[in-house]
Amino acid sequence: MSQPTLLGLSGSLRKDATNRKLLREAARLFDPVSYAEADLNLPLYDGDLEDAEGIPASVQMLADQIGQADAVIISTPEYNKGPSGVLKNALDWVSRTKGNPWASKPVAVMSAAGGRAGGERAQMILRACMVPFQPRILQGPEIHLADSSNEFDDQGRLLSERYENSLHMLMQKLRAEAGF
Ligand SMILES: Cc1cc2nc3c(=O)[nH]c(=O)nc-3n(C[C@H](O)[C@H](O)[C@H](O)COP(=O)(O)O)c2cc1C
Repeated sequence: MSQPTLLGLSGSLRKDATNRKLLREAARLFDPVSYAEADLNLPLYDGDLEDAEGIPASVQMLADQIGQADAVIISTPEYNKGPSGVLKNALDWVSRTKGNPWASKPVAVMSAAGGRAGGERAQMILRACMVPFQPRILQGPEIHLADSSNEFDDQGRLLSERYENSLHMLMQKLRAEAGF
């Protein structure tokens, strides 16, 4: 059987984002896998832009990547108790593409945030935002990585065995959900 393909969506764009690191750790624990991270640096959704130029190529590429992936992992930071605008913008744009690439897609969501709750509220809102797209979102184990800037070593490995074990369990469930 060929290797499963896993697509990661990080709600934080910055290069050293702990949400990116968490996704990479998830991909490592999903192993073996062919992992790619999507580029969410998209234009802001604007109906005038859509009317004038149609779906931007970067958005169509993201929708195609989601559609073609065996499974998708999403990690959101918490910004003022919600998921990031970057992530919501990407979800809104993809919802404007033809078809629904999320339909029945195996998806795992997680969050990495500075606060003590690890972005729990942001993740809960993100789950609600995904409902219209009808993916197969795993219910758990839930990963809310608190104080995320202190949770990775220099190689980007999770420091806490507790988080690593939960993430491993989540990835094994995602693997099974994707039929591997
Ligand atoms: C605008 C803004 C709002 C934030 N609000 C929250 C918040 O409500 N709860 C929280 O835990 N952290 C909050 N933070 C801290 C982020 O969770 C933290 O920067 C997070 O680790 C960013 O993820 P990253 O490392 O992937 O970039 C906020 C940060 C910013 C920039």
